[in-house]
Amino acid sequence: MAVLVTGGAGYIGSHTCLELLNAGYEIVVVDNLANSSTESLKRVQELTGKDFTFYQTDLLDQEAMEVVFKQNKIDAVIHLAGFKSVGESVRLPLRYYHNNMTGTLVLCQLMQEHAVKNIVFSSSATVYGMSDSVPISEDFPLSATNAYGRTKLMIEEMMKDLYESDPEWSIALLRYFNPIGAHSSGKLGEDPNGIPNNLMPYITQVAAGGLNELHIYGSDYPTRDGTGVRDYIHVVDLARGHLKALEKVVSSKGIEAYNLGTGRGYSVMEMIASFEKVTGQRISYRITDRRPGDIGVCYSDPSKAERELGWVALKGIEEMCRDAWHWQSNNPQGYQKEKPILFTGIS
Ligand code: UFG
Repeated sequence: MAVLVTGGAGYIGSHTCLELLNAGYEIVVVDNLANSSTESLKRVQELTGKDFTFYQTDLLDQEAMEVVFKQNKIDAVIHLAGFKSVGESVRLPLRYYHNNMTGTLVLCQLMQEHAVKNIVFSSSATVYGMSDSVPISEDFPLSATNAYGRTKLMIEEMMKDLYESDPEWSIALLRYFNPIGAHSSGKLGEDPNGIPNNLMPYITQVAAGGLNELHIYGSDYPTRDGTGVRDYIHVVDLARGHLKALEKVVSSKGIEAYNLGTGRGYSVMEMIASFEKVTGQRISYRITDRRPGDIGVCYSDPSKAERELGWVALKGIEEMCRDAWHWQSNNPQGYQKEKPILFTGIS
């Protein structure tokens, strides 16, 4: 069975491609390399010993995407391509709407034309907005607080309409919590452009000496130690969640959303302590103001994914920290790609 993976060269994409190949799937990768490099794909090939087809193609390029569908017999799509920086989406909303919405629209139109109706979509816990309570389950009210989040929400809505119009579609909306960590080989990992926005890559870069100190965004949240609590999930567990969702979409019709998280929350202080414990590195930090738009506590109820997909996250926080550091210390310059200067944090 051939699976088209959009955004396959990125952080989550490369780990997902590796798991797909190891599980015996044939894959076709499409990526415009806006926030990734072919180096990750070379490493996927080395680690698996398997070949696959890669197109350096933008989803917005309808003609080029048509070629991908004509040249390959695709059975299902895992759609990960998209811009993902919250802050950038606030500054450049049209860029986000154009890229994320139109890219998905082009993809779904081509899928419909070519009768490929199985899709796993990379959504986000961001679609729960400022949720009032935890753990968050899939039936919680949905909202968005920024343009990035709205693109995820609107794509979910678009896919629901698509399914309503044609029940031959089979769609899994995967709502990721906070993916961190790296492949245990130390060869695949997260390689953000510029200064990282997210906690774990910031911590690893402080440990590596590239950044001076971590700024902790607020210590007055109603949490155990006042710092923000999140549901961190190992990227390999997350990648395996995509395979479980894929099995589901190819074996039954419908549209379902699934939380991919561990169901456990850790504070920023707890993350620092775990990282220091397993790596022996000291993390200097300073407490600053809250980051605008942040919530205090966010963690999932992942039981629907366990019940319906047979998936649970297996890796704990120490393994996440250890693997993140293994990747960072083996690859101090990431994949050493030419990094775009104008737009940061795009994938
Ligand atoms: N944090 C710091 N300092 C930093 C970075 C983060 O203290 O330098 C704190 C945040 O305040 C938060 C926690 O660390 O409490 C995690 O922050 P991240 O930026 O790593 O992750 P977020 O939960 O804020 O955001 C993530 C994704 C978004 C997604 C959101 C909601 O990056 O794309 O989850 O699902 F929208």
